[in-house]
Amino acid sequence: MAKLKIALIPGDGIGREVVPEARKVVDALGLDLAWTELPWGSQYFRETGRMMPLRGLEILAQHDAALLGAVGEPGVPDHETLWGLLLPIRQGLDLWANLRPVRFLPGISGPLTGRGPDDVDMIFVRENTEGEYAGVGGRAHVGLPHEIGVEVSVFTRSTIERLARFSFELARSRRGRLISATKSNAARYGYVLWDEVIEEVAADYPSVELERVLVDALAARMVTNPGSLDVVVSSNLFGDILTDVGAAIQGGMGMAASANVAPGADAPGVFEPVHGSAPDIAGQGVANPIGAIWSAALMLEHLGERAASEQVLAAVARVVLAGPRTRDLGGVADTAEVGDAVTDAL
Ligand code: NAD
Ligand code: IPM
Ligand code: MN
Repeated sequence: MAKLKIALIPGDGIGREVVPEARKVVDALGLDLAWTELPWGSQYFRETGRMMPLRGLEILAQHDAALLGAVGEPGVPDHETLWGLLLPIRQGLDLWANLRPVRFLPGISGPLTGRGPDDVDMIFVRENTEGEYAGVGGRAHVGLPHEIGVEVSVFTRSTIERLARFSFELARSRRGRLISATKSNAARYGYVLWDEVIEEVAADYPSVELERVLVDALAARMVTNPGSLDVVVSSNLFGDILTDVGAAIQGGMGMAASANVAPGADAPGVFEPVHGSAPDIAGQGVANPIGAIWSAALMLEHLGERAASEQVLAAVARVVLAGPRTRDLGGVADTAEVGDAVTDAL
């Protein structure tokens, strides 16, 4: 039996175009690894009424990791598709940290012309199981003029604390700077608890410089002074929004990678590009596969295959610099040409 068992969930839209490229790159490394392709997503939903089987989480738990594309398809409500697959996976496996690196690779200029790789190297630690995504709430007076929808943000001390410890440790292993993003001026309860717990944990990490920054100001600072950001810890929704800004900075949605992990537990990590299923370009073969390939590199690193992970990132960097590039990066290559080029660069 192969040493590493990886579940592959291409999902919908360009997920089905970029994930095969990531698989191709990983296969070229010659590791002792076996894939299980799982046809979950909107097509599966139309056939079975579910986005994944009832035993979906059990199936994933039999793997060492999963690589996921994206889900979401015009015609199926987004809250059905996401609450049928992605969010139950993150919550059900208790993958409580979502790591999202934002780096400027050589050759990328993006909206920050004149800056280079030393100016943009940050990593977001996004709380991944509760906050604004807790799924707590309800609807009442349905169909009446005074119909209401209530969405409750949930913040738990133990959840904030484990995320904070992980973030301080990550900051200590990098440039020693941690920013905590909240909105504790307008929101008076959950984010105030968040600030208190972060400050308590900070006492155990005197070598890390902690800064509390309100999320709106931080969004602007990412663009005006990206070099001042090292590790950023945030709630679920704020991490979601800030990392789309991060993706734009590092060249576009197609560049950004993410890792859903549960440090210290043995749940399989789930690795996925930050982007969605991009219905506007799906089926054309023009999606940038770099975010998916980079996510596979994060997966290899998480699985202890550090040398292989570094090899993939070096190959990505070479291709981003020398081409071929997809059109979002100003090139003319298609998805598979970029995947092939990364594979060749290995
Ligand atoms: P999106 O990320 O799919 O697309 C936003 C824009 O970025 C589009 O113009 C798209 O063409 C572009 N883009 C995205 N990835 C790209 C790539 N690899 N190469 C080149 N261009 C790329 O976000 P959206 O349009 O808000 O959402 C579309 C669908 O995806 C929705 O159903 C949404 O719910 C879903 N979604 C799923 C995930 C996920 O499963 N992880 C993440 C985000 C959005
Ligand atoms: C992401 C996505 C998801 C999120 C959506 C699709 C639920 O935008 O992974 O960034 O908000 O977490
Ligand atoms: Mn997002």
